[in-house]
Amino acid sequence: MAAAAAAASFRALLDLCKRRGFLYQSAEIYGGLRGAYDYGPLGVELKKNILNSWWQRHVYWRDDVVGLDTSILTPHPVLKASGHVDEFTDLLVDCILTKERFRPDKAPALEFLPTDKDNVSGGGRIPVDAPDKATAKAWQKLVEEQIAPNIKTTLEGKRIMLHVNAFVQPDSQGQKGRIDFASKTGDCSIPLDYNGYVEPNSNSPFLTASRPFNLMFKTFLDPIDPIDRVIQTTTQQHENNNNNLTSVREAVDQVLRPSTVYLRPETAQGVFINFEQVTRTMNKRPPFGIAQIGKSFRNEIRLEHGIFRTPEFEQLELEYFIPPWESSHWFKYWREQRFKWWLEHACHKENFRQRDHEKNEMAHYATGCTDVEYLYPWGWGEVEGVAHRGNYDLTQHIKNSAAAFEVVEEEARVSSPHIEADDCLIPAEKPVRYVPHVIESSCGLNRAMLAYLCDAFHQVSEGNNKPPRNILRLHPRLAPVKCAVMPLTGKPEFMPLAESVAKTLRRRGWFTMVEAQKLKIGKRYYRHDEIGTPWCVTVDYQSLEDETVTIRDRDTGSQERIHWRDVQRFINDRLMEDEEL
Ligand code: GAP
Repeated sequence: MAAAAAAASFRALLDLCKRRGFLYQSAEIYGGLRGAYDYGPLGVELKKNILNSWWQRHVYWRDDVVGLDTSILTPHPVLKASGHVDEFTDLLVDCILTKERFRPDKAPALEFLPTDKDNVSGGGRIPVDAPDKATAKAWQKLVEEQIAPNIKTTLEGKRIMLHVNAFVQPDSQGQKGRIDFASKTGDCSIPLDYNGYVEPNSNSPFLTASRPFNLMFKTFLDPIDPIDRVIQTTTQQHENNNNNLTSVREAVDQVLRPSTVYLRPETAQGVFINFEQVTRTMNKRPPFGIAQIGKSFRNEIRLEHGIFRTPEFEQLELEYFIPPWESSHWFKYWREQRFKWWLEHACHKENFRQRDHEKNEMAHYATGCTDVEYLYPWGWGEVEGVAHRGNYDLTQHIKNSAAAFEVVEEEARVSSPHIEADDCLIPAEKPVRYVPHVIESSCGLNRAMLAYLCDAFHQVSEGNNKPPRNILRLHPRLAPVKCAVMPLTGKPEFMPLAESVAKTLRRRGWFTMVEAQKLKIGKRYYRHDEIGTPWCVTVDYQSLEDETVTIRDRDTGSQERIHWRDVQRFINDRLMEDEEL
């Protein structure tokens, strides 16, 4: 029941986002592009406010972090050295019946209905769910005629029941599982391997073997159409009587290699390959950080939950370079700092948590990782990873290029007065040469936006069988519109003062709207509550006499009357209120 309510509330939030200009399906007038979203006028403001808060805290408020903006197109050697060409893969499985493609590590186990509840490895049935009756019928035909001829199946509405004589679960020692289907004639069993997962939407066990799938988008920086090169090379191979697919593929890859580039899968590599340039041009030495905000791209097998997992997304990444002997101090420090930032903007702090990775979960470059997770309507989901990358990346680029990334310290020093002695093992010998270690925090901007939208979304009952009213209790610093200015009626005499108030706020860089529609003032307030506007200013008859206006607070509904010239200070004070300096 709670899950159904959460799902309904999420649907209401997505509807709000579309209706009020936060998010649009990309290329909607052409039928939409799967997994791609455009950010509307309010979405872009919310995203910018999150990004600005991050940049402010990590760059402007510190003297040990500088910014960078590197190319999205990344040449093959960079990502070969970083390990992404060979290791940035997910396992992929296709369902032979439904044609769905999915990640086995995220897929559910088989739903099995045993005939005898006390003997779950005996006989029973496997329900396979189709989207409608016609598809169920077509799938049943496909199973019986092509996929598993002779197995016994029956149809129950949208469900195909696969009849089973025995079912063996895979075990933790690597012993494969098995399904023994009942035959149509009833005189034998027809076996099928079972690896512990099924196609997530239908429960179909008819799957291909799993194979690794590289998540990077590959393209070619070349004035000659790469397809021409592919045709030329395959034709040549054919003429040389080479019909072995693997070696033809290798020949094609070889020819295309010089022009192969990738859309970067993380912004971090752009930072690593510029390490020496930044230290030299900005006169920096570890400990110091490089921050970068930008788009990354991954050909995700499964796109899910709106903007939670998309092929194109934005990352806020900080690579903090440190002497190796200070690693444990800075890992702890950044985990704390980053979690504090997340909580600063949260309504429901209990819905954010930190979770340490198990060894087998970690990316190929990491020696330690702690995720920040948010409790989305469908469960806990990662919004950020704080990883100890060791000196993996810099070392890889040293090995594969002419990079001079080694740092030489005449004196091994404790870099920060805050580091406690037992947090750092200072080497005895001097001078010290080392390749810096890196502590990385990598936050998904789109996931942050979704988390804060879910966190802020409230539905307030209006009673009398009325539909609930939506309020987005976004932190004022994140709210897309900071203030709405409303002349009490549509009469023109209120407009000059309304425009003057709006002008003073706009000059501060705050997105301000003037709402002069002929709608009751209460309705106009509610429309702004729905998009999270923290303050509404009303110009009324009294304003014309004494230049005062009312200012209404979104969360309490309370109103104050102040001079119109004080509105800017009023808002500024509240925006700064809980800002940690
Ligand atoms: N440089 C490290 C790195 O990229 P990651 O855990 O793969 O680490 C970091 O990604 C963050 O980027 C994630 O915590 C998530 O917020 C965001 N992210 C990753 N893949 C994403 C996707 N397909 N769609 C949206 N956000 C994504």
